[in-house]
Amino acid sequence: MYKLLFDLVFKKMDPEKAHHLAFFWIRLASSVPGLRGLVRLVLAPRDRALRTDALGLALPGPFGLAAGFDKNGVGIDGLSMLGFDYVEIGTVTGEAQPGNPQPRLFRLVEDRALINRMGFNNQGSARVAARLAARPHTSSTPVVGVNIGKTKVVEEADAVADYVKSTERLARYADYLVVNVSSPNTPGLRNLQAVEHLRPLLSAVREAADRTTPHHVPLLVKIAPDLADEDIDEVADLALELGLDGIIATNTTIGREGLRSDAARVAEIGMGGLSGAPLKERALEVLRRLRARTGGRLVLVSVGGIETAEDAWQRILHGADLVQGYSAFIYEGPFWCRRVHKGLSARVRAGGFRNLAAAVGSAVDARETA
Ligand SMILES: Cc1cc2nc3c(=O)[nH]c(=O)nc-3n(C[C@H](O)[C@H](O)[C@H](O)COP(=O)(O)O)c2cc1C
Repeated sequence: MYKLLFDLVFKKMDPEKAHHLAFFWIRLASSVPGLRGLVRLVLAPRDRALRTDALGLALPGPFGLAAGFDKNGVGIDGLSMLGFDYVEIGTVTGEAQPGNPQPRLFRLVEDRALINRMGFNNQGSARVAARLAARPHTSSTPVVGVNIGKTKVVEEADAVADYVKSTERLARYADYLVVNVSSPNTPGLRNLQAVEHLRPLLSAVREAADRTTPHHVPLLVKIAPDLADEDIDEVADLALELGLDGIIATNTTIGREGLRSDAARVAEIGMGGLSGAPLKERALEVLRRLRARTGGRLVLVSVGGIETAEDAWQRILHGADLVQGYSAFIYEGPFWCRRVHKGLSARVRAGGFRNLAAAVGSAVDARETA
């Protein structure tokens, strides 16, 4: 059904317009009294075996929506209605900014991939904080992660102050906070992944969060798949040293290897981050590296190329406490979460695990004890 809608309507539309249209429908549906609960009943997970405790948070399952879909936190309830176990909003920057000129989002349908150079289009941390502050809190309020990044016009030398500003405004409303230093679309941003830059940045954000909230806000860093393996180890060591709560791996890649799409079209699209199926292998590799380095001492959130329950399951077996996705949502549609959750439930049972948490890292641990 969705495949038909995708082929007949969305595929023919500009991808960014299609995004706004679909997101509008999702928000509209969730604002209709009674409908949100009904849709949730069908789409959201209810299997107790999938319940996940991570980052000190109780989640209905491990599967969240990755950053970038809801940059301004305008549709959290609608997205949770579709079955996401948590929603990461952002990237939010210190100041509002329009992002890059359009077109800036492209589909590679043959590769089940996207290329984007959105450039952190968002309303800025003050406005997003005010929106989050106005949200009513009930027992069914979904877990919300807040992903922050650098305002484009801010010089690299002033990056820390920009992240701190966002932290001061947003930390109190975040169930967890993510320092994004890995988007390829803000010039120089990924240089902040080098530990000599990352150490003062993460320390300052941690300090700012602690200063502004009485409770501990879990802090994670999101890294690129394009880091060399030794750099991944360095970030992992730093995260442990600073007492971070976790690492999100990975963001989009600047690589274009192994694509099926017409090379001339890919070249014509130009700069941007590639996401979706082509990221699968590298995202799993990065996860395995992080797990080997951190040995379960950090919460690992795996993202990149997750399309099916089997993809999510493999990440869990290899040490992911949580998983996220974005690109496959575009291709799979509103029943995506339901399919992933059903598949995960089946795998927990078939594997003889007590629950999903018992499966985390079991592929690695089995090898270690063999
Ligand atoms: C259109 C688009 C916009 C994105 N914007 C952000 C962003 O603002 N911040 C961020 O940390 N990641 C962003 N991402 C990256 C995703 O969160 C995710 O890390 C990446 O797409 C890999 O997951 P996927 O293969 O499931 O899409 C964006 C991805 C896409 C496709």
